[in-house]
Amino acid sequence: MNRINWTLEEDFTLAGLSSNHRIQHFLFVIFLFLYLMSICGNLTITTTIWMERKLHTPMYFFLGNLSFLDICYSSVTVPKMLLTLVGGSSEISYKGCMAQLYFYISCCSTECLLLSIMGFDRYVAICHPMHYTTIMNKRTCLQMASGLWLIGFATSIIHTVFTARLPYCNSRMMSHFFCDIPPMLKLACSDTFLNKVLILTAGGFLGLSSFVLTLISYIKIISAILKMHTKVGRSRAFSTCASHLVVVLIFFGSISFMYMRPTSNYSLEQDQLVSLLYAVVTPALNPIIYTLRNKEVKNALKKTFNKHDQGPHVIGDNINPEEDY
Ligand SMILES: *[C@@H]1O[C@H](CO)[C@@H](O)[C@H](O)[C@H]1NC(C)=O
Repeated sequence: MNRINWTLEEDFTLAGLSSNHRIQHFLFVIFLFLYLMSICGNLTITTTIWMERKLHTPMYFFLGNLSFLDICYSSVTVPKMLLTLVGGSSEISYKGCMAQLYFYISCCSTECLLLSIMGFDRYVAICHPMHYTTIMNKRTCLQMASGLWLIGFATSIIHTVFTARLPYCNSRMMSHFFCDIPPMLKLACSDTFLNKVLILTAGGFLGLSSFVLTLISYIKIISAILKMHTKVGRSRAFSTCASHLVVVLIFFGSISFMYMRPTSNYSLEQDQLVSLLYAVVTPALNPIIYTLRNKEVKNALKKTFNKHDQGPHVIGDNINPEEDY
């Protein structure tokens, strides 16, 4: 009982990205820029999709979900990191740390599932255009969307409880810029075998199945594109497909690097760099990658920002597989 009380009261210290002040200020500017870019870009997409009725189709609903998720995702970790970089406290309370861990893992799991559903949606639209409206009907989409949020936020409870019940009695200095499972396990002073098994099984199952589903969808999409007859359509389709694949590969590559290996091979600099990639950079890049190549969103954006210019640009009603993903 005593030890538990002691554990709950004690704060953790998050080791910053650098101890050099000039580097810290430099990093602050970069990450503040990326964070603002992520918030502005994702907020614009979410509100545009929400307001523009023409964008009320499964693909855009899921894109809206992704943008909303990216806002939550970067807001869990980045503000605290930014504060620490400009000389704020690097301490985080035990409860604060667990809350950060919970929301972070929830967002991460939901993002995995969402990326795979988005890949599946494009697969149906391109490879089975005749059945698209029947397969991706409103009810199925709502069920899929609520299902993936529910699964993400529910499986995270297990990981958080298993991490929280470990005793932390040695160092309180976490070699990371936010509370994540691997650096927490390094601090625990009891056996963490069960936790590692849990990450590999529950986390691995969720990550791997999402990745495999996404990969299969894109393989089918690419082979369908290869069979297209017009050269212009093919190259355009390839370029959009490639940018999706980049997002998917960065995301799945970095999370598998982070979680799918023994925690003993843990190196501070390398891991922080990889975490930055998927915690800060991907949420900022997603809106650019998913939107700037998409004519319908661009037109809707133009329409929202120039209300008086109700010009001739018409937003297509039909699903055109060559422009739509
Ligand atoms: C998420 O997707 C569901 C189902 O398509 C949709 O009803 C909901 O409005 C979306 N939420 C956001 C924030 O875009």
